[in-house]
Order: sequence, then C-alpha cells, then structure tokens
Amino acid sequence: MKKRIAIFISGRGSNMLAIAKQCEDGALGDVCEIVVVFSNTPKAAGLKAAANLGLNTMWIKSKGSSRESFDQQIIDKLEPLNLDYIVLAGYMRIISEPFLKKFPNRIINIHPADTQAFKGLGAYEWAHENKLDHTYITVHLVDKGVDTGKVLDKRKVDLRRAENLQEVVKRGLEVEHKFYSEVLYQLFKNKA
Ligand code: GRF
Repeated sequence: MKKRIAIFISGRGSNMLAIAKQCEDGALGDVCEIVVVFSNTPKAAGLKAAANLGLNTMWIKSKGSSRESFDQQIIDKLEPLNLDYIVLAGYMRIISEPFLKKFPNRIINIHPADTQAFKGLGAYEWAHENKLDHTYITVHLVDKGVDTGKVLDKRKVDLRRAENLQEVVKRGLEVEHKFYSEVLYQLFKNKA
C-alpha cells in the first residue's frame, strides 16, 4: 500500500516540489502519494506552486494561536485524510506533543546541516561563515526538540571553492532536492 503523506511548508517549497516531481515521474510514486500540501501561512509561495501542480492544498494561520491549539486545529483538519506520514519541508513551527503522539515516528524533517554540529535556523549561513569545506544534509525523525530526532540518513555537500552564501545554498539545495526523496523512498519501501 502506498503511504499517504502530507507535506508541510512555510515558504517557497522547493523541497516539496522536488518530492512532488519524484512522485510524479520517479520511484517515489511507487511507495507514496501526496494527499495534501499544508502550510501555517496562506502566503507561502509553495502553496500556490503546489496548487498549480494540481495538488490538494490546505492552510491554517498560525499567527496568534498557541502551539497546542494550533496543532489541534491541524489534527482535526487532517483526521479525515487518513495520513501515514507528515513530511516537513521548510516548515517553521515546532510540533507539539499531542501532534507527535498522533504520528509516532512518522514525522520527518530535512535539516541543512549535520544535526549534531548545528541545530536550528541559519545552517547555511553557519557553514559559510565558518568557511567549512563541506557540510551535511540530514533527514531525521521529528521529536519534541529542534532538530534532535533520530537521524535516518545524512549526505555530504562539497563546499570547496564556494565563494559566497548564495553558492553554499545552491549546492546544498541541489543535494536536498535529490536526497530527501531517496531517504523517503527507503523508509516507505521498508515499512509495511
Ligand atoms: C531547506 O533548506 C530545508 O532544509 C530547511 O528549510 C529550507 C526549506 O526550503 N528545513 P524550501 O522551502 O524547501 O525551498
């Protein structure tokens, strides 16, 4: 059975689009289907891009709500969709415990650094400012911390001769866009 997934975004959604492409004409389409693209803001550019692809989209404004009440609204809205996994892709909210309990070990995130070395926002800036000659992209399970969940896999990004932040981000995203789908494929393929 194909896994039913929701992709959560807050911004441009380039990882969501890469996953959608792999579902459309890559191996990922054999193991999962995107049931909905969800955002905590109607302004997320990725929502429009998802709708343009014909994907089902949904949003609830998070501004002004407590974490628990916001997540409860999401849980209620997603309930009828019968989802197997939540795939975070640039989703800028910490997930509350009740939400984690609804999807135990079934919420995944991508982080643009080795989570052991750098957690939170600004990972590409950190790699650039520290003139790293490589960094990592990590795909991990989500727990109640920020980028603290069990690592599923990580992949190296070569940053040698990356002259500026733009180049660091470009190289990182190139890896992200392939790697996330590969890890998801392995995960879904191996789960009953
Ligand atoms: C990516 O760098 C991802 O690793 C991080 O947030 C960024 C989201 O980019 N969690 P996009 O919205 O997928 O383009």
